[in-house]
Amino acid sequence: MEPKKRKSLFCNCLPSVFLLSAVLFIGSSFLVTDYKERFLACHIIYNIEATKSKMCENQCRPEGRTLPRGIVSITTDLEMRPLWGRPKKKSKSPMNLLAIAVGIKQKQNVNVMVKKFPLTDFAIMLFHYDGNVDGWKELEWSNYAIHVSAINQTKWWFAKRFLHPDVVAQYAYIFLWDEDLGVENFHVGRYLSIIKKEGLQISQPAIDPEKSEVHYKFTARELNSKVHRRTINLRGPGRRCYEDSTGPPCTGFVEMMAPVFSRESWRCAWYMIQNDLVHAWGLDFQLGYCAQGNRTANIGIVDSEYVVHFGLPTLGGSASDKANSEDRGQSSLNKASPDQGQKVPSERDQADGRNAVRKESYIELENFKNRWKKAVREDECWVDPFSSQ
Ligand SMILES: *[C@@H]1O[C@H](CO)[C@@H](O)[C@H](O)[C@H]1NC(C)=O
Ligand SMILES: *[C@@H]1O[C@H](CO)[C@@H](O)[C@H](O)[C@H]1NC(C)=O
Repeated sequence: MEPKKRKSLFCNCLPSVFLLSAVLFIGSSFLVTDYKERFLACHIIYNIEATKSKMCENQCRPEGRTLPRGIVSITTDLEMRPLWGRPKKKSKSPMNLLAIAVGIKQKQNVNVMVKKFPLTDFAIMLFHYDGNVDGWKELEWSNYAIHVSAINQTKWWFAKRFLHPDVVAQYAYIFLWDEDLGVENFHVGRYLSIIKKEGLQISQPAIDPEKSEVHYKFTARELNSKVHRRTINLRGPGRRCYEDSTGPPCTGFVEMMAPVFSRESWRCAWYMIQNDLVHAWGLDFQLGYCAQGNRTANIGIVDSEYVVHFGLPTLGGSASDKANSEDRGQSSLNKASPDQGQKVPSERDQADGRNAVRKESYIELENFKNRWKKAVREDECWVDPFSSQ
């Protein structure tokens, strides 16, 4: 009995101590909370039930608990599997995921977008916010995509519920995109090789300022550049950015319409999405905390593969983007409208809906900021890695 007990104490507490110190070393707030809770839970149980080492052993197993370790499948993926036989061979490099929140009105554009992402390298997931799933059936890739439908829900609502980090753990990069992006000048293969080579944990394709409404100079495409990690904006409009600016929106920042996350940065970003704040305003400015280190180095805008942001009035999306930028004292660098001939006529109730969404988004933004401040105040162990900047 004795040796077994000692062994169990050893294997229960050592990983916790190791994790705790590893995590303190990394200094990521979200991981700290996660592991600290785990550590405390284990510690308390150990104290109370010191004699019942067997029970402690079970309690401290982070996964599966009562199952033999080898049978526990902690993570999963979004691969569809055949009813018999083996799945078709995909490419050797790890798969990636493209998830888009869609309504049937943008079907044509979404079709063009999805066709840029080869099924051999990408799992495709559509979040239908208008309940129309059947309308997509005729598209050749539709049967290979995962369709999730929930009426009037936002991209962030879907992402929080259906892109849990353990569900998407297999994917090297997660593209969480809006449906109103023009991808004529975007090649995903080249994009992937650039972000890998540049070590970008969080990125986005640059926005074409000629054809899009640009809210932040930082995300606008720079000519003759492959990637940029900071911008200088001495005269405005919007927030000023200097050579030595250290934070968003001058560096370490992406917008919410076309972010691309590495596996690790997505785990962190997923933690940051609040269940009840569905418009996710304010998240963009904090994403630097998910950059796995230096946000200026690890977040970048890819200029050579760029997109147009049509800014169509979708599910509150573009309307909120617009208000978002105004709210922060930015005004458009370029007022050119999409001119795609697909703009939905602004009916009165649609406009009312958008105003209501905008109002709600402001409230959520305040809420999020306050929660962040409170969390920082209350977590004595958390150190702001960017506080000296
Ligand atoms: C969804 O939103 C639209 C307005 O954008 C509204 O007309 C409709 O009733 C909503 N549907 C549900 C089920 O809430
Ligand atoms: C962060 O990265 C940028 C760009 O690579 C670099 O200039 C800067 O010195 C780095 N900051 C720190 C604190 O390492």
